[in-house]
Amino acid sequence: MCGRMRLDPHSYADSTQPETASLALHAAVDFATRTLRATATLTFRAPGAGPLDLDTRGLTIHGVTDLAGVPLPFTLHPVDPILGARLAIQLPPGTAGVTVAYTTSPDASALQWLTPAQTAGGKAPFLFSQCQAIHARSVVPLQDTPRLRIRFEARISVPEGLTAVMAAAAVGRSDGPEGPTFAFAMPQPIPPYLLAFAVGDLASRDLGPRSRVWAEPAQLDAAAWEFAGVEAMIVAAESLFGPYDWERFDVLTMPPSFPYGGMENPRLTFLTPTLLAGDRSLVNVLAHELAHSWTGNLVTNANAEHFWLNEGFTVYAERRILEALEGAELGAMHAALGRNALESEVRRFAATPGLVRLRTHLDGIDPDDAFSQIPYEKGYLFLRTLEEDVGRPAFSAFLRRYIRHFAFRSITTEDFVAFVEAELPGALERVGAAEWLHGEGIPANAPRARSERLLALEALGGAVPTDAQAAEWTPTEWTLYLDSVPRPASPETCAWLQARIGGSENYEIVVSWLKLAIASGHLDVLPRVETVLTRVGRMKYLRPLYAALAARADTVEFARRVYASAKEGYHPIARQGIEGILG
Ligand code: BES
Ligand code: ZN
Repeated sequence: MCGRMRLDPHSYADSTQPETASLALHAAVDFATRTLRATATLTFRAPGAGPLDLDTRGLTIHGVTDLAGVPLPFTLHPVDPILGARLAIQLPPGTAGVTVAYTTSPDASALQWLTPAQTAGGKAPFLFSQCQAIHARSVVPLQDTPRLRIRFEARISVPEGLTAVMAAAAVGRSDGPEGPTFAFAMPQPIPPYLLAFAVGDLASRDLGPRSRVWAEPAQLDAAAWEFAGVEAMIVAAESLFGPYDWERFDVLTMPPSFPYGGMENPRLTFLTPTLLAGDRSLVNVLAHELAHSWTGNLVTNANAEHFWLNEGFTVYAERRILEALEGAELGAMHAALGRNALESEVRRFAATPGLVRLRTHLDGIDPDDAFSQIPYEKGYLFLRTLEEDVGRPAFSAFLRRYIRHFAFRSITTEDFVAFVEAELPGALERVGAAEWLHGEGIPANAPRARSERLLALEALGGAVPTDAQAAEWTPTEWTLYLDSVPRPASPETCAWLQARIGGSENYEIVVSWLKLAIASGHLDVLPRVETVLTRVGRMKYLRPLYAALAARADTVEFARRVYASAKEGYHPIARQGIEGILG
């Protein structure tokens, strides 16, 4: 018999089996062994019987019981390199749920354990989780697919002196024999990839009526200043997309090894400390993660094959927020940066054009390997094309209806298509949606961002600007300019740039400059490259720098040496990505 009905190419979850409705997670954090010792109780939507397949990765299973504590037979199957190990449990008739007792592995793919030296404060260790796309299974045995949304409660015990925060409502703290225990609850149903917590020496400060920022004490002032505009962003977003459904929007400033710019964990967005530029020029990432509160966390991709529904909509929403707060120029400049990123990703994926589609087919493909800017920026352009077709007022109204209609549901591209057909009749046909969704390039009707400042940059064509021109540029314009300089740049251009922005602390500018310098053979920058690669673990910066170094015979050995010494500090996902580049 082959009765298994896949819900998701990246999960053993089976549509014929009981569905988890809620999770109770009780975990003790042990920095000495780098493990969580935990129990996870899964309660089903309705009592069930027969086989139950859970996703796990690297878990040591101590035992499985039903909700009354009666042991249940189970088998932990051999490891699949992408999916992990299937935990098959046999349920007697009428089983309402299961409790699994287990220990995580020291190299759980969702967890990064940092020594005190790898933190800003240097005194306390730090632990954080990053579950998207399919890493929750390395922390909790569960049905790890966004198709199955769960409510949860959690209790996390930590060593004395440390604080646990979680993407959930904080409901209390107690002190027991296991150390301080922090309790949390998530009353809204979420996809498992949004489970998130962090443990460390953390302090917080209020930013607004429903927001506070968490950070290591050494970074709290800088973070509070950088993100001070958060309430204005929430207000702007609510007027665009409808009421904010998650009560609080707190943010956590992560250690430098956090592999992403931000992660939209509900009620507690995680943000890279590379956003702390001191000029609020990188808060588009904050707008982006906030926007996920509607597009992604309310309306969720059914699985990684529909990731563009999360990210394309969110980039569109991010730019609408920026535009509402800062004006159309900034939105246009970000759209132009996005276009550059998209074109370079299409080149990077030349050998795997299937990944240039919006709607992808990922059977046998690790979502971390499929990750790129394509779902973000091609998805954004597709939505902009639809917007141009029906006009902004109609598109804005459509977006609000889409969000309300699918709120707290996990949907496919096909669900999206059916909804657009009903709500904006004829629009998909007119914009050539099939080519957008299933084609392997950038359709010719993709709109181009237009603004005066962009025109001025284009007119320059990558030539060295006058000092008067350059003095007027915002950090975003600098980044756009650096992208536009033809490579290799001449030694004179490199010398001018080195003098002008070589000392910048804005990572977008720094990394764009270093990429250009390496590609131009201006190797005086290598010490700075090494500093960046050693201090920061954000993949958006690591990946292009390592790729630029690996592309040259005179820097590839340098890249290998830096990687060998820096990799201890990188997140497991970042290591996987860079090893792919360095071969
Ligand atoms: N959800 C993503 C991060 C992510 C995606 C983590 C896939 C794991 C798997 C987050 O919202 C994101 O897109 N972050 C961007 C921000 C940018 C687009 C403004 C990033 O990290 O750079
Ligand atoms: Zn995102």
